[in-house]
Amino acid sequence: MAIIKIFPTADELFEFAAVDFMQRAILSVKKNGIFSVILSGGSTPKLFFNTLAKIEGVNKKIPWNNIQFFFGDERYLPATNAENNFHMAYEYLFSKVAVKPENIYFIPTDNENPHVAAKQYEQILRQIFRNKENTLEPFDLVYLGLGDDAHTASLMPGSDVVLKTSQTHLVEALFVPKLNMHRITLTPLALNHSRNIIFLVTGKNKENAVSQVLQGPTDPIHYPAQLIHCLHGKTLWYLDQLAAGKLNSGEIVHAK
Ligand code: 6PG
Repeated sequence: MAIIKIFPTADELFEFAAVDFMQRAILSVKKNGIFSVILSGGSTPKLFFNTLAKIEGVNKKIPWNNIQFFFGDERYLPATNAENNFHMAYEYLFSKVAVKPENIYFIPTDNENPHVAAKQYEQILRQIFRNKENTLEPFDLVYLGLGDDAHTASLMPGSDVVLKTSQTHLVEALFVPKLNMHRITLTPLALNHSRNIIFLVTGKNKENAVSQVLQGPTDPIHYPAQLIHCLHGKTLWYLDQLAAGKLNSGEIVHAK
């Protein structure tokens, strides 16, 4: 069951999300000494990161030293390329807060074969999240965006990673014809293995995708974000009014 919180404006959404992040980080570090976060890419996180880095009374309370950052997907471009998600996160967040460089686990894009890079990142995840029972510890928090075609991470409509969702792989590589580029993405198996998942979605251009994913027919091949169901906690959608414009409010389970 998706839990939805609708905000009048994007600014109000990101201010709430920043305080929410701070509270989750403090709780997790108090309980486990660490907070593991999977970041999404694209342009929405830029606004969120700007708020997180500058909002009074929040930034300084966040235990940055105890947060591990990972990525839900990556454009297969050099880390020096502005379109690379790690590059974006560094420019908008990591360069402005006291996160430990050794706690930033970016998806490698320097191997000529993206499928090798996917295997490398999977090994990193399996190594870091292996617990005492020799199973995979859930991620504490996964942030996701939503494309206007209802993709999330790089789970593109009709792509192989969506047509046959892996029951074994945590990370896969795919070529995206319409973007003419390779992407690396965490699989639904990995993304759902989380204590909480938060979709951050704003803008009128997302209203159709939001409506299709949350209230449309079950059709994950065409609406891949429907593959996301948090297995160890809640799947939350933080939407601004514009992105929620086509939702039938009678069917919405609102967050408190
Ligand atoms: C990426 C993202 C992708 C993104 C959506 C929404 O690498 O592009 O991970 O899944 O979240 O495409 O992107 P915007 O926030 O730019 O609308």
